[in-house]
Amino acid sequence: MLVTAGPTHEPIDPVRVIANRSSGRQGFAIAAAAAEAGARVTLVAGPVALEAPPHVHRIDVETAEQMANAVFAALPADVAIFVAAVADWHVEPSPTKLKKGEGPPKLKFLPTRDILAELGASERRPPLLIGFAAETERVVEQAVAKQIAKRADWIVANDVSGDVMGGHRNRVHLVTADGVEDWPEASKEEVARRLIERVAQVLS
Ligand code: CTP
Repeated sequence: MLVTAGPTHEPIDPVRVIANRSSGRQGFAIAAAAAEAGARVTLVAGPVALEAPPHVHRIDVETAEQMANAVFAALPADVAIFVAAVADWHVEPSPTKLKKGEGPPKLKFLPTRDILAELGASERRPPLLIGFAAETERVVEQAVAKQIAKRADWIVANDVSGDVMGGHRNRVHLVTADGVEDWPEASKEEVARRLIERVAQVLS
């Protein structure tokens, strides 16, 4: 099983990055629950302040490009769960520190690789491909759109308008080919165990 977790950091110059609020907790909890259930787990982690769960092979990355390369290098997998909050944009980083006195920098944003969509369209696509959707409005509707656009089997949709990003609890909706399940709010560990139970049912 392959799991991505955490944010990515896209460098602006040697000291500054574009980042987001992802703590990595939900992805690490999923990797831990999968390993507890007996899966052989590779966890590709962005910059987070978390210990690797026991019996999980952890690969640390910083940027979306590094995460994409680590994911493809870790294949094949029976299941991939993309929990990471990958940056959608990066910039051409300056080799030297941008100086305040030179005024506000004009950053030219370029799209990053969409790892889930790339894998969804690839011949190396795992038999069970699961994405997350972080939304603040029309949560399920946008999750269904992502499921189709990225060719994921399931999307775990979460409303991140509160303190979910960086918090300890999560309220998710599981979008599958059979419809949408609304799961009750729970700790990220409980959400992880429930998701891994579902994955195990499918694999068996
Ligand atoms: N994802 C990815 N690579 C990216 C962006 C997202 O693999 N460059 C994955 C995430 O890990 C997640 C899913 O795609 O499983 C949806 O991510 P999300 O941030 O919700 O959506 P985006 O595609 O970034 O779209 P938007 O920011 O417009 O909602």
